[in-house]
Amino acid sequence: MDILGSGHEQVVFCSDEESGLRAVVAIHSTALGPALGGTRFHPYATEDAAVADALRLSRAMTYKNSLAGLDLGGGKAVIIGDPRTDKTEALLRAYGRFVEALGGRYLTACDVGTYNADLDVVARETRFAHGRSLAYGGCGDSSVLTAYGVFQGMRAAAEHCWGQPSLAGRTVAVAGVGKVGSELVDLLVADGAELVVTDVDAAAVDRVRTRHSTVRAVADTAELVRTPHDVYAPCALGGALDADTVAALPARIVCGGANNQLATPDVADQLVARGILYAPDYLVNAGGVIQVEDERHGFSFARAQARAAGIFDVARRVFGAADAEGVPPVVAADRLAEERIRSVGRLSTIRLPG
Ligand SMILES: NC(=O)c1ccc[n+]([C@@H]2O[C@H](COP(=O)([O-])OP(=O)(O)OC[C@H]3O[C@@H](n4cnc5c(N)ncnc54)[C@H](O)[C@@H]3O)[C@@H](O)[C@H]2O)c1
Repeated sequence: MDILGSGHEQVVFCSDEESGLRAVVAIHSTALGPALGGTRFHPYATEDAAVADALRLSRAMTYKNSLAGLDLGGGKAVIIGDPRTDKTEALLRAYGRFVEALGGRYLTACDVGTYNADLDVVARETRFAHGRSLAYGGCGDSSVLTAYGVFQGMRAAAEHCWGQPSLAGRTVAVAGVGKVGSELVDLLVADGAELVVTDVDAAAVDRVRTRHSTVRAVADTAELVRTPHDVYAPCALGGALDADTVAALPARIVCGGANNQLATPDVADQLVARGILYAPDYLVNAGGVIQVEDERHGFSFARAQARAAGIFDVARRVFGAADAEGVPPVVAADRLAEERIRSVGRLSTIRLPG
């Protein structure tokens, strides 16, 4: 693996034998500010797989944070292990000391396998842990504004396709009704949309249907993809959009909360060829990182929500630029993120006194 040639600023390996900590912190860019990205706790099969994930995820955070208008670069950390059995106070605190040792170049938060309460433990060793619980003045569960941002992106996509920024009367298919998906269902029902959902966890579907009796459920994602709908919202795992799925999709819009929805980069072109408007995942699911970032200023939900509402305008710009430049929305979104990194990132070259 070509780590030094990967375009990352810094990759740090952290090891503490006694607690069993084995972690990799990848700092992709600090051009816009300290590199913020969550800590994924996952039983990677190999060290190489862990490093590859950290490199890929930290790069994506650079683009997500730039598009969200945050003064943050992109980073990500992975802890190698099973979060159900390997997560201990000593391990989390050892990890916190390595984060502290980076002096604020990397800010950590929650990701798959880590929760607000874990970040409270990490924060006992470092000033640079966010995504903390409400009891500690933290932002709490970031899926609330993640879903809100996805909803804003979906409204912008609806306006682009149908002239009205509303999902009223449209059928939205939500794949995965966990934390983000179920919040999104609430917002869509309130907007007047019809919902069809699926989840491998029957209890998750039951919870949604208890709140909204009009929500229909189907057996699995394959059936969901075949069910007539206007908007497809992947809210489960990555890689939801592969060639077969895109070939079968009846949707006019794809807009969901899951990270890394495109199984391969060429799927972006297949979506264009089928006339499906794809709202880039790292653009519309940035509400969570906006919620987490707000902690740096003394958390205010109202302020963070107002900022996440801005995803509507950025999505609108991206769809407009994609049309004008004749490129898929992911390419337009990348260009917008890179332009901000260039134009705002270079300001630190203006020397200040002292
Ligand atoms: N929580 C956040 O703030 C946040 C922020 C940005 C991105 N995301 C992304 O959004 C996605 C959902 O995150 P979450 O926090 O809601 O996680 P979650 O675990 O609460 O929910 C995911 C749901 O998907 C279901 N699921 C898993 N595999 C499935 C399948 N094959 N078919 C149907 N359902 C399936 C699970 O049972 C679960 O209910 C993830 O990709 C995550 O990376 C989350």
